[in-house]
Amino acid sequence: MDPREQLRTYLEQRRETGETELVLDKLSIDEVLRIIAGEASSARGSAVAAAAAAEIEHPSSVRSGDPGTGDWRSTLRDAGAAPAAKPPAAEPLPGEQTPVASTDPAPVKPPSIPRLAFPQPGHEAGGPDEASEFKTGIVVGAADSELFRSPFSHLDSLQAIAETVRSCTRCPLYATATNAVPGEGDPNADLVCVGEAPGASEDETGRPFVGESGKLLTKILEAIKLSREEVFICNVLKHRPPGNRNPLPGEVEACSPYLIRQLEIVRPKVIVTFGTFAAQTLLNTKSSLSQLRGLVHRYYGTPLIVTYHPAALLRNPAWKRPTWNDVQLARRVLDSARQGS
Ligand code: URA
Repeated sequence: MDPREQLRTYLEQRRETGETELVLDKLSIDEVLRIIAGEASSARGSAVAAAAAAEIEHPSSVRSGDPGTGDWRSTLRDAGAAPAAKPPAAEPLPGEQTPVASTDPAPVKPPSIPRLAFPQPGHEAGGPDEASEFKTGIVVGAADSELFRSPFSHLDSLQAIAETVRSCTRCPLYATATNAVPGEGDPNADLVCVGEAPGASEDETGRPFVGESGKLLTKILEAIKLSREEVFICNVLKHRPPGNRNPLPGEVEACSPYLIRQLEIVRPKVIVTFGTFAAQTLLNTKSSLSQLRGLVHRYYGTPLIVTYHPAALLRNPAWKRPTWNDVQLARRVLDSARQGS
């Protein structure tokens, strides 16, 4: 493949995971995309392409902070495409383990999402617990939070939530959707999967993750020896955004209390978010998926693991391996939590 085309694809994939900067050098992805589109000098563009080709071939060296990253950084610098300075501490490298906590000091209190009310023994925020062998990420809320007087605290079953969702008019999405998609699965599930929003097949059927992404999600769950029936599957948004566009802040604000209430009722031992959007919403962060992966975050005491969205894996099969690693982590955390209870 033409190196520029390869670079363009690569950068678009990074942008899809929530990254905005080109890993180390404070260039925005949009800027580099403009460079390779020929808006800057071709020398600079080729240097960027060469640098990124190295990154594509050796992404793990960037992740681990391996000294080998110096090669492509200096290529970029020599080409005048990037400043020599290191990225500031506030902009951690993808895959670094500590900065997530430092950019998102614990505990984080989401401004607009109601608090959960499911204290779990041994799940003190930031404290030692059954998952302490894992690297801790963002801690949202305290495990012993009291019930927030949300509009849905009176809904005392998943069934009641589903019925309310089906007649919900809190945001305009109900008007363009065919069916609401509240979620489905075991009400006593130990693991809850959270996606972004229903797509076309889900809108048609009223069931979450039943299209191509859903088939892949089923396989991902099977890889960790879980069936769809024994987990609970839902989304941040319960109605499909037209044309699968990104959810708007007002829609998240209106809809997320349903998700919170579902989590309160199911009280899973582990939450797995699929895709940038679900992770950033529950963890109340703008950190990219690369920064959030590989860590065990805490959502009001419950371990939360983030991974790629199955739809992203369909576009980029290279993400299957890291997804496998993420769900294996979720499995280990689940096993550990089960042993502790
Ligand atoms: N993508 C999602 O995030 N959720 C679904 O239910 C289907 C596709």
